[in-house]
Amino acid sequence: MKNYQIKNSYSHWLTVACATAEEAGALVKSSWLNPHTVHLKGFRDIVTETDVAAERIILQRLREAFPDHAITSEEAGQDHNAAMVHWYVDPVDGTTNFARNNPNFCIAIAAVMETQPVVGVVFDPLRGHLFAASWGGGATLNGQPLRTSGITRVEDSIFSLDFPRDPTLRHQMWAYSDALLTHGRTMRTLGSAALNIAYVAAGWTDIYFHLTIQPWDQAAAGLIVQEAGGMMSTLSGTPWTPFCPDPIALSTPALLADLRSTGLIAPTDV
Ligand code: IPD
Ligand code: CA
Ligand code: CA
Repeated sequence: MKNYQIKNSYSHWLTVACATAEEAGALVKSSWLNPHTVHLKGFRDIVTETDVAAERIILQRLREAFPDHAITSEEAGQDHNAAMVHWYVDPVDGTTNFARNNPNFCIAIAAVMETQPVVGVVFDPLRGHLFAASWGGGATLNGQPLRTSGITRVEDSIFSLDFPRDPTLRHQMWAYSDALLTHGRTMRTLGSAALNIAYVAAGWTDIYFHLTIQPWDQAAAGLIVQEAGGMMSTLSGTPWTPFCPDPIALSTPALLADLRSTGLIAPTDV
């Protein structure tokens, strides 16, 4: 496919991704306050019946619409097909919240070509927040253009994070948050990586970082930040892709420079 034909496809892919996220979101919303069946699938890591039910809907819709694309989804696992377009799906991001009837969770769906997300949707079904972006096409929240805060200095910034499950990384995160709390404005955390990153895109926070997340946690929201005028980078200093474990989402490139210059986050730390 020629480049311009691919670009023309983004709006169709985005439309399908938005409709799919909304359909799965309706199911997640309707089962939110029900008793849940919770299964421990790993250390500090759970899955509920609703993660699996929402994933079933999403996989079915994406497979119907894009039979020649690959789809990797958190619960269904990695798709090893070599396809031009690879979808990354998190049917419920924030399962620990969802399982406890805490209202902070979302559905995240992204299409990635090589290492660049080209379509991204993050849907918060309780608030009805639909964050969406396509590569080069801008970012929106419920159809309205989205911009980051434009904050450039750590001292003015509201930062956010989630705590890794691994005990050593959790302590490392604690040290970072201690340093940022000393120098930044304040800290917020939601318990959903995708929602936290989308909030940077919306200008509701200015920095988000993590030490160990997956492509389905960050591909969609990372694109939304990029298209809202923000920047995605990594704590280790390598260029961001959805496959890096240690993303940092920022309102502006200048804020990353300020973080680095103050030594709060050094590229050699990770
Ligand atoms: C988790 C959440 C959490 C983050 C974890 C993720 P899940 O995803 O995004 O905020 O700290 O690393 O695995 O399990 O709720 O989909
Ligand atoms: Ca997740
Ligand atoms: Ca999940």
